[in-house]
Amino acid sequence: MKIAVLLGGTSAERDVSVVSGLAISKALSEAGHEVTAVDCAFGDKIITNWDADINEIIHLEHSDFESRKQELDRNIIQTVQFLIAQNMEVAFIALHGGYGENGQIQALLDMMKITYTGSTALASSIGMNKHISKILFQKHQIDVAPWIKIDSPQDYNIHEIEKLGYPLVIKPNDQGSTVGLTIVEEPDRINSALQLAFQFSDTALAEQFIPGKEVTVSILGEQALPVIEIIPEHGIYDYECKYQKGKSKYIVPAELTKQVTHKLQQQALKAYQALGCRHYARVDFRLSPKNHPFCLEVNTLPGMTATSLVPKAAKALGIEFPELVDRIVKMAIENKNF
Ligand SMILES: Nc1ncnc2c1ncn2[C@@H]1O[C@H](COP(=O)(O)OP(=O)(O)O)[C@@H](O)[C@H]1O
Ligand SMILES: [Mg+2]
Repeated sequence: MKIAVLLGGTSAERDVSVVSGLAISKALSEAGHEVTAVDCAFGDKIITNWDADINEIIHLEHSDFESRKQELDRNIIQTVQFLIAQNMEVAFIALHGGYGENGQIQALLDMMKITYTGSTALASSIGMNKHISKILFQKHQIDVAPWIKIDSPQDYNIHEIEKLGYPLVIKPNDQGSTVGLTIVEEPDRINSALQLAFQFSDTALAEQFIPGKEVTVSILGEQALPVIEIIPEHGIYDYECKYQKGKSKYIVPAELTKQVTHKLQQQALKAYQALGCRHYARVDFRLSPKNHPFCLEVNTLPGMTATSLVPKAAKALGIEFPELVDRIVKMAIENKNF
């Protein structure tokens, strides 16, 4: 098949997306497809050297990137025109965060009748909104950490927040990669934590801190894959622990009883279905000391480097990376409605 892998883009997670996208390109090519890797920030810029150091090829200075963001955002139109001109059969979305994950590119591709991998525009935009996701999880009997939505960094009710108890977690409503998140141990820190969270989102959440383990469940199609336990060096699974080699340990499959494993897998699948996800996603949980799962969020475009969590979980079932991405492409082709 003729597949375009969409990578890069303009979000804060651009670098991770390039790594995911190049790994996906190699794997799809190994699976026998005709693959073109396109950096969406630069329209129809094709990346031909999939083994190149990402910093060398496409990393722009942060300052330059920020000042050109609007122009770079608009280049997505050229990407779409390129896909049409080249008669691409499928767009494999390897973007993370921003327009790649919040449903905007999915809506654009829908309008242009281009088949793409991963969740629809609606499921993607709900998945990007932690507050709305949590409301839907509760409706489907999926437990979540008690929370409060905060709409302004100036106007909030500290007493209501404090009812959650300490420590509590303050985070942006629609960021990823643990950016802008603070664990607050005392009242004095609430204000600065909110100021930080609002740098990344128009809405923030204050959430009860759930002690225990960090676990994640990947979904492929309608199947929950083996549970992974993450042991981050820093206690919470922050940006460094997520992306720096050796900063986290992963236990695949997690050493949990059959019942707890089953419960996590069932809750993960329910969360995926509650948001209307398709093809694949990864559902993050905190598992309390009493082994009770609390769903944090669904990642509709989880990391997809060969060593990321979804590929790790698939591998535990004997599904190698090329087969994994090939299956995702096949699901996209089967689902297409134009
Ligand atoms: N309520 C919570 N209790 C304990 N840890 C939390 C809680 N919320 C977030 N965390 C920690 O922060 C990380 C990121 O939070 P998450 O809600 O998944 O946002 P992101 O979209 O940034 O991944 C989690 O993986 C976990 O380590
Ligand atoms: Mg998360």
